[in-house]
Amino acid sequence: MNDNLEEIKAILKRHGQEHLLNHYEKIDDICKKKLLDQIKNIDFQLIDNLYRSTKISAKSTSDKIAPIDYLDKYKLKDEYKYYENIGKKAIKEGKLAAVTMAGGQGTRLGHNGPKGTYDIGLDSHKSLFELLCDSLKEEGKKYGVIIPWFIMTSKENNKATVEFFEKNKYFGYQKDKNLFFFIQGELPMIDTEGKILIGEDGLIKLAADGHGGIYESLVKSGMTKKMKEMGVEWIFIGGVDNCLVKMVDPVLMGVAIDKKVTVACKSVVKANPQEKVGVFCKKNGKPNVIEYTEITEEMAEARNENGELLYGESHILCNLFSVNAVERMGASPLPYHVAYKKAKYLDKNGNLVEPSSPNAYKFEAFLFDAFGKVDEMAVLRVKREEEFAPVKNADSAGVDCPKTARELYKKFYHLD
Ligand code: UTP
Repeated sequence: MNDNLEEIKAILKRHGQEHLLNHYEKIDDICKKKLLDQIKNIDFQLIDNLYRSTKISAKSTSDKIAPIDYLDKYKLKDEYKYYENIGKKAIKEGKLAAVTMAGGQGTRLGHNGPKGTYDIGLDSHKSLFELLCDSLKEEGKKYGVIIPWFIMTSKENNKATVEFFEKNKYFGYQKDKNLFFFIQGELPMIDTEGKILIGEDGLIKLAADGHGGIYESLVKSGMTKKMKEMGVEWIFIGGVDNCLVKMVDPVLMGVAIDKKVTVACKSVVKANPQEKVGVFCKKNGKPNVIEYTEITEEMAEARNENGELLYGESHILCNLFSVNAVERMGASPLPYHVAYKKAKYLDKNGNLVEPSSPNAYKFEAFLFDAFGKVDEMAVLRVKREEEFAPVKNADSAGVDCPKTARELYKKFYHLD
C-alpha cells in the first residue's frame, strides 16, 4: 500500500491535485483502497483539458450547417405498408432490442429516487418504468416475441433502480434472461479552480458522463455482445422520461433496413421557431443535431417553399441503431459538454459544504454527437401527440412536466 501511496502522491503532485489525499488518514481501509483505485483510474490529462474547456466561451462558427432530409411517417403512401412489412418481419425474427437510458439525475423534476420510479399521477399510479414496460410487452405480443429490455443506470441510482424492479417482480420480465441492467460511466466533478471535488464519503466526487456514455457502456458492459448472441441486430434507444415513447416501430425499422442506414431517428415538428429543442441537421455534410443554443435566429425562423421550418425536425431521443453502429460509436470518445451544477463536497478541513448555488463543473457527452460518425441516417417524422410526452420539470414549470405528460398519455390511451 505504501509504495502505491507514494506513486499516487507523485501523480497527484504532477497534476496539482494533492488535496485528494487530504482526508486519507481519516477514512477506513476499505475506503482508502477505493480512493487509491479511483485516483489511479482518473485520466488527469482529460481532466486538465476539460477544465481548460470551461474557460473557452466562444463557439466555433466554422461548421457548415444545412437542413437534413426526412420522411413524414403519415405522408408515406404505399411505402408505409412496404416499410412496415420489412420491419414486422425483423421484429418477429427477434432482431430488435430496447434500451432505456435511466442514468440521469432528474434534477429539474426533483424526485427523490430514480426518475423511472416516478408516478406521474395516473389513476393506476404506475411508474414511468411500468408505463414503458406495459407498452413494450403489448408491442411484443403483437409480434409473438418478448422484446429484450436493457436499462442503463448510473452508479448513483443503480441499486435503487434494481431494487424497484425486484419489488415489482420485474413487471413480468425476467432478469438476466430478457431484462438486463448496466451501469454508465462517470467522470470526476471539478471546482472553478480545476480541483477535483471530494464527496461526503471522502472519495472522489463522480457524476454520470451523460447520455452519450451509452455507446461505450453498452460495449464495455458486454451488452452488445449479449445482444448479438441473442440474435439482436437493431437497438432502439430512448429516454426513461417520455411516457409515450414507442420503442417498437416496424416502419422505423423498415426504413432503416430498406435504406441500408445504420441509424434511423424519429423527429417531431418543432412547435415554434423558439422552442428550446435540438433539431436535426447536417453539420459539415454529416448528420447531426444542433442545439437551440447554437442555432441563429435567422436559421431558426427560415422556412422552405411550403412554409415549413427548414430546421424544424426536433430530436426527441428516439433513435434506432444497428448493433454494429453502436459498437463503432463506442470505440472512440465523444466530446464532453460542460454543465455548471450544485455539488456537495468536503472542504480542506473535512467540513461538508452544501452550496445553494452552482459551484462545480460536470462533464457530459451527448448521444447525438455520435451521429456525425455515420455518413447517412434516416429521419422519420412522427406525431408529437402520439410519441412525445416528456417529464422533465416539476409541475410548477408548466411545460414538459408530470401534468402535461399525464394529459397527453390519457388522451392517447383514451383514459378519460
Ligand atoms: P436529460 O438530459 O433530460 O437529463 O436526460 P435528466 O438527468 O433526466 O434530467 P436533468 O437534466 O438532471 O433535470 C434525457 C434522458 O437521458 C438519460 C435520462 O435518464 C433521460 O432518460 N440520461 C441522462 C442518462 O441515462 N444518463 C445521463 O448521464 C444523462
